[in-house]
Amino acid sequence: MNVNFLNLLLTVILAFFFDTEALSPHYYDHTCPKADQIVTNAVKKAMANDKTVPAALSRMHFHDCFIRGCDASVLLDSKGKNKAEKDGPPNISLHAFYVIDNAKKALEEQCPGVVSCADIVSLAARYAVALSGGPTWEVPKGRKDGKVSKAIETRQLPAPTFNISQLRQSFGQRGLSMHDLVVLSGITDFPYT
Ligand code: HEM
Repeated sequence: MNVNFLNLLLTVILAFFFDTEALSPHYYDHTCPKADQIVTNAVKKAMANDKTVPAALSRMHFHDCFIRGCDASVLLDSKGKNKAEKDGPPNISLHAFYVIDNAKKALEEQCPGVVSCADIVSLAARYAVALSGGPTWEVPKGRKDGKVSKAIETRQLPAPTFNISQLRQSFGQRGLSMHDLVVLSGITDFPYT
């Protein structure tokens, strides 16, 4: 067996056992080139009618990512005996879910079954912050939507009573540094226009 073949074999085995598909800012370039524009339009339209939308979307993204990663599990509704994240105490005051629904609807008309809700939440938060005069950042896309959502896991969100050590630990458990904690907290302070 030559080295190239061994490399190929290893790649195939790794891809089989682990979902190694990398996130990329160009993920939808061919399958849904207008994805970013469609999400921006949904956010812009909502912001024109409701100034609380940017705050709501940035918080929604944060609360989604903290529990099970950025997988849109925060959007799932409670079903039967399962109480979903959305109905966990820290998430009761989340709002503006309709912005994500509107973006998803527009995307489904343009490119059905392509863009994940997890990517929509990430993009919507980015636009909400940027369009309000805050910073912007690149959003790598290709996130998969989660199917599990448990209200009890919202206990993992930092509590308003946390001191700085507890906040540091909470963010640290998700690979976020003290710098990230300060920057993310600062985003909540951007000027609303
Ligand atoms: C550092 C730890 C954090 C704690 C303990 C915390 C806690 C809270 C609490 C208790 C509220 C009030 C909720 C209510 O009115 O019921 C709130 C609101 C809010 N939080 Fe956080 N938060 C944190 C970090 C963040 C981060 C990282 C973001 C976004 C990047 C964020 C975005 C917001 C926004 C935008 C609101 C206002 C929401 C609205 O008015 O719709 N927070 N937060």
